[in-house]
Amino acid sequence: MEKLIDEKRQGTALKRQSEQGNQRKLYIESYGCQMNFSDSEIVASILSEQGFNTTENMQEADLVLVNTCSIRDKAEQTVRKRLEKFNAVKKSNPKMKVGVLGCMAERLKSKLLEEEKIVDMVVGPDAYKDLPNLLQEIDEGRSAVNVILSKDETYGDVAPVRLNSNGVTAFVSITRGCDNMCTFCVVPFTRGRERSRDPHSIIAEVKGLWEKGFREVTLLGQNVDSYLWYGGGLKKDFKTASAMQRATAVNFAKLLELTALAQPKMRIRFSTSNPQDMTMDVIETMARFPNICNYIHLPVQSGSNRILKAMNRLHTREEYFALVDNIRQLIPDCAISQDMITGFPTETEQDHQDTLTLMEYVKYDYGFMFAYSERPGTMAARKLEDDVPEATKKRRLQEIIALQRRHSLYRTQQHLGSTAEVLIEGPSKKSGAHWMGRNTQNTVVVFPKEHYQVGEFVNVKITDCTSATLLGTALGHSDNN
Ligand code: SAH
Ligand code: F3S
Repeated sequence: MEKLIDEKRQGTALKRQSEQGNQRKLYIESYGCQMNFSDSEIVASILSEQGFNTTENMQEADLVLVNTCSIRDKAEQTVRKRLEKFNAVKKSNPKMKVGVLGCMAERLKSKLLEEEKIVDMVVGPDAYKDLPNLLQEIDEGRSAVNVILSKDETYGDVAPVRLNSNGVTAFVSITRGCDNMCTFCVVPFTRGRERSRDPHSIIAEVKGLWEKGFREVTLLGQNVDSYLWYGGGLKKDFKTASAMQRATAVNFAKLLELTALAQPKMRIRFSTSNPQDMTMDVIETMARFPNICNYIHLPVQSGSNRILKAMNRLHTREEYFALVDNIRQLIPDCAISQDMITGFPTETEQDHQDTLTLMEYVKYDYGFMFAYSERPGTMAARKLEDDVPEATKKRRLQEIIALQRRHSLYRTQQHLGSTAEVLIEGPSKKSGAHWMGRNTQNTVVVFPKEHYQVGEFVNVKITDCTSATLLGTALGHSDNN
């Protein structure tokens, strides 16, 4: 199953319960990565203090915000089409103001005001705390822009309002930005330098979620394995940290341990792991704690050493295999998923074959696969010609998607006859009589509702599957309730 995480995903309008006394109405849509959805919850929290309740109806909104993605050209085009739609709505709702948030805001800055006349406000991912001031500007009829990137984690002290929440699973952001500089990637430019968040505030947020009934958290960052708190969180300044700070620093393995110990019944997931930053102590910590889920999103992008080098991915195909072997040795039933890019500049048929054989070796549980899209300002755009024809990129993409589908089916079939602990998230999309939840590997499990409730851990006997979903029947509550 190829789940595309940005442009294919419908922008989601977010709703929440009304805050009493709030008069103004906010409509907010999010595109792109999980971090954007998490950021929108922070934005809604900041604006709730400014008298805004969220609405799902754009027609009645005073403020319409779109939290945007720049990762591929298509993601940006999707947002531009939405802005046209906002334009049409504004004709019947002239009071509405429009703001662009997120990576497109950061990449295009005030150019967006010129190119898209509907836009009143442009706010980069680190500037949401300035929204009250920016709102005042637009209320007074001026346009407003803040795209300053920060050196601090920025939002550790904002309690996100959980938008569109199932009340069971939540995202908790632990790092912002990325220092890896993969040559194809716009994220280091739009989200700035890598900063980690104080572990105390992370653990306090997870505790608060547990008390509200949440049973699963996903620790979020562009590159979680490089999490590092030493009293400060700016990664590039760690080299100037004192001996004392170094000795007491909290790395990702330690953060996982602290979180798992603080909330022993809370399921813990994390995303995303860059192979070059993932260490054995993270895998060992996962193996030690039953509440850390057996699932790793481990993007590789290509199976060719030559292409990995050109992408500035700082590992080889062989090192990646060694990492996968280590994971499987310590956590035999660990699920692994991938991100893959076809048609990176200079990619040959042989390079593509290397990707297919790498996939054959790992047999990923699922993946997110994309055709290369040149992003202005990246190293690849500056140094390499985008020379693989579009048709070739697409054909290679179809080949890896087809292979992934076979591997996904192979993986789901491995579960047939076994019993899985499933956390119930809500009703199945296809049938009101069934619950939908996930097993530890993050695979969707669907089973008849009977007397079970959302938020409960249930043991489910797996009897059937597709390449994306496991089907079964509940045997009873698990010990984890
Ligand atoms: N570390 C990040 C990666 C963000 S981008 C994370 O948390 O997921 C997500 C995926 O988009 C990447 O792994 C890569 O496969 C894909 N991607 C990034 N830039 C791309 C580009 N220029 N063209 C096509 N796909 C790209
Ligand atoms: Fe992008 Fe590479 Fe960081 S894919 S988000 S630069 S790890």
